[in-house]
Amino acid sequence: MTEFEFPKDFLWGGATAANQCEGAYDVDGKGLSVQDVTPRGGLAAPGATSPLITALPTRDNLKLEGIDFYHHYKEDIALFAEMGFKTFRMSIAWSRIFPKGDESEPNEAGLAFYDRVFDELAKYGIEPLVTLSHYETPLHLARHYNGWANRKLITHYEHYVRTVFQRYKDKVTYWLTFNEINSVLHAPFMSGGIVTDPAQLSKQDLYQAVHHELVASALATKIGHEINPEFKIGCMVLAMPAYAMTANPLDQLAVREFKNQNYLFSDIHARGKYPRYIQRYFKDNGIEIQFTQEDEAILKHTVDFISFSYYMSVAAAHDPELYQSGQGNILGGIENPYLEKSEWGWAIDPIGLRLVLNDLYDRYQLPLFIVENGLGARDVLVDGPKGPTVMDDYRIDYLQQHLLQVGQALKDGVDVLGYTTWGPIDLVSASTAQLSKRYGFIYVDRNDDGTGSLARYKKKSFNWYKAVIASNGRSLFEQSIQ
Ligand code: BG6
Repeated sequence: MTEFEFPKDFLWGGATAANQCEGAYDVDGKGLSVQDVTPRGGLAAPGATSPLITALPTRDNLKLEGIDFYHHYKEDIALFAEMGFKTFRMSIAWSRIFPKGDESEPNEAGLAFYDRVFDELAKYGIEPLVTLSHYETPLHLARHYNGWANRKLITHYEHYVRTVFQRYKDKVTYWLTFNEINSVLHAPFMSGGIVTDPAQLSKQDLYQAVHHELVASALATKIGHEINPEFKIGCMVLAMPAYAMTANPLDQLAVREFKNQNYLFSDIHARGKYPRYIQRYFKDNGIEIQFTQEDEAILKHTVDFISFSYYMSVAAAHDPELYQSGQGNILGGIENPYLEKSEWGWAIDPIGLRLVLNDLYDRYQLPLFIVENGLGARDVLVDGPKGPTVMDDYRIDYLQQHLLQVGQALKDGVDVLGYTTWGPIDLVSASTAQLSKRYGFIYVDRNDDGTGSLARYKKKSFNWYKAVIASNGRSLFEQSIQ
């Protein structure tokens, strides 16, 4: 493979979400979010489709304490700085700012916490990349409004984003409106705070909720640019390429349908209107989106860049029953026999990342930002010369293979702003609520049963990533795994 250059100001870093790392779920006036009532085993657990039956946090929910980033942020940011991070993706927990979500006055203690975090990042010259809503809708908005199924959420979200845009307008430039906004079609509670049992949720109501989120996202983009024209505001989608299972044209049509379900979200964010193909889908499924007059004008406020998560690809077929269905990140699909899988059954496909980058860039010619990528694996802590460590060559290999494909996409001419690995420090898994599904360069001593000292240890990948950043990607060629 020939060499390539990463852009001079490429934003290398790592990505987290408040609900998976902060802990302190009830500290300094924070309200509950939908994550605080996630049952043991996460949303993948049997019976988890109506988690609000309990509606109260249970002590076995690891997200309540996370890795206690709330009290360890200085130590953790110092470690990110040691790796040379240029950027750090994090989310603001909406329920720290508005504990119920519909108050008129924000919670000052919550706002002050993020001031401290942004100031700490600034100390090291690390650019914050902030997700406004990362699977952590305030619980009250879910229980009393049915989340994004209710149009009123637009107003509450608007109030929240206006508050944080104003407060942090001189500290934050890069913003993402909703994490993996397309996931609401598949995980309506976690992603959209919708409490209706998915089995009872009509397509009409689901796509109406989608519409509310899309309008809210465009409104945030509009407001953000008014508050600070320097803001760079992006959408965030879950990217997952689908390959046809066979050369049967019907399988190709199935791929197209799978892709369009996801393109719907980036198309509207990038082009400012509903795409043609969705009209046929709406008609066939009896869906009529309720638009207000202003919606159309608001949607025209398009994003500055497109960001996405990428972990895996899937296969698609017109008759999926014929094949083994694969495990994976929220969207689901058929298992691809050509690919290896992670311990959690996610197909490992570095080339898929190059395809995603090229497809999105061909389609929009907007800058792209890879804001999640990584391998969830079980790590074993061993004694190293400088203390406990993890020999995570499998993680280095995964990241190296993916970054080499980013390099290929750069050579293809794709404009890539940056790359943040998922969970640079171990945190609680979104789907399974485990800590043993680790992504980090930094090991956190906390176990699935909640025990552990919370001590942080550098894994082998820590120095590997540090070298990648220091050489602006050149070490990907020069340095084989030791
Ligand atoms: C993405 C989410 O879907 O995948 C993250 O944005 C999540 O919140 C990540 O943690 C990895 O998934 P999981 O289920 O392994 O934590």
